[in-house]
Amino acid sequence: MSQQHSVITIDGPAASGKSSIARLVAQRLGAIYVNTGNMYRAMTWAVIQTGVDPNDGEAVKRAAEGIVIDSPVVDGQTQVSICGRALTQDDLNSDPVNRGVSLLARVPEVRARLVADQRALASLGPLVMEGRDIGSVVFPDSPLKFYIDASEEVRASRRRAQGHTDQVAERDRLDSTRKTSPLVIPEGATVIDNSHLTLDQAVEAVLAKLPARSTASESQ
Ligand code: CDP
Ligand code: CDP
Repeated sequence: MSQQHSVITIDGPAASGKSSIARLVAQRLGAIYVNTGNMYRAMTWAVIQTGVDPNDGEAVKRAAEGIVIDSPVVDGQTQVSICGRALTQDDLNSDPVNRGVSLLARVPEVRARLVADQRALASLGPLVMEGRDIGSVVFPDSPLKFYIDASEEVRASRRRAQGHTDQVAERDRLDSTRKTSPLVIPEGATVIDNSHLTLDQAVEAVLAKLPARSTASESQ
């Protein structure tokens, strides 16, 4: 088995601040930042390109089998490319992708494939990985788990401020109620509600919970 480095897991609902917090924590620790939502978004983008409806699970499963997804590390964070094409933030955050991603993320075969890719990244170096099932399914044995929360109002207003049209509440409903790997607070996770924290304060709250001489540089 390839070497496994430490993984700080960060989960939480849409627009709670996970990505911003995870990116800054990774920078502070010199770890690789992995945004797993972008992997599900990239798959959704590619499936839509083939003309398949993300609501049709069987068709999604078949279409996904022919899609090659890679996650090269660039400047300390994973990028995502589909069949060799690097996707832009505009591709990943487009309205059709926002509408379709939680439908595609219900398909067990798609999840199994992306989970395997996510686990393989731990051979590259210490990681800070964020998503919905990282502490519960992808790296359940990590001792360094966080669940980042914020009120629905705060999350909706943060997303609006970013200028995106996004059905945050609907994605949360789908993500929390799906059969395979629903969004849950992972066992052993530290819950941080950052509704009333600045980004810097939220990052400090995570760092404060890590063991001294932390973490990311030590192997699990
Ligand atoms: O950034 P935001 O919280 O809005 O979403 P994201 O992290 O980009 O994830 C987009 C969607 O991908 C989520 O709403 C989930 O449906 C799915 N996802 C998942 O199922 N499991 C993950 N580990 C990450 C994302
Ligand atoms: O990854 P996720 O969808 O959970 O959230 P995000 O994209 O990291 O954060 C959504 C927006 O909220 C970004 O513009 C963050 O800068 C902002 N944010 C904030 O203003 N204060 C916080 N404590 C956390 C995030």
